[in-house]
Amino acid sequence: MAEVTDELIVCTDDGSVGRKALVTEPLKEILTAHSEVKHVWAIGPAIMMKFTAATTLPFGVETTVSLNTIMIDGTGMCGGCRVVLNGGAQFVCVDGPEFDGHQVDWELLLQRLSFYRAEEKESLERWEAHRCNLDRAFDTLTAVR
Ligand code: FES
Repeated sequence: MAEVTDELIVCTDDGSVGRKALVTEPLKEILTAHSEVKHVWAIGPAIMMKFTAATTLPFGVETTVSLNTIMIDGTGMCGGCRVVLNGGAQFVCVDGPEFDGHQVDWELLLQRLSFYRAEEKESLERWEAHRCNLDRAFDTLTAVR
């Protein structure tokens, strides 16, 4: 990225790499210092894209967000990627995946993304507790040797 940009700003939550900050902090600084910025693209977690769009809105800077991470089958059949923009429903895999971040109903999107949180947590716990039969077989084989 550094090779193809004028300036690369890396942010991490804990400061382990780059600057300890949310991405919206340097973004706001850049927008404040550079009125020539005309467009921002945000790709990543929905919550980050939501706040990126909220940061650019007062500056009147066009903001494109990529919602491909919420797609499931990518065929327009499952309905899992439905988003509401400006009051109208659209499918990320058919109508996007890039959208005007200022038009996305972020509250609804984040609500939909958390709909299966309990089941996802249970699934993760089962996966972490699971012991693969291949591992058991390997343990048996190595114990015999
Ligand atoms: S990903 Fe299933 S309808 Fe878009």
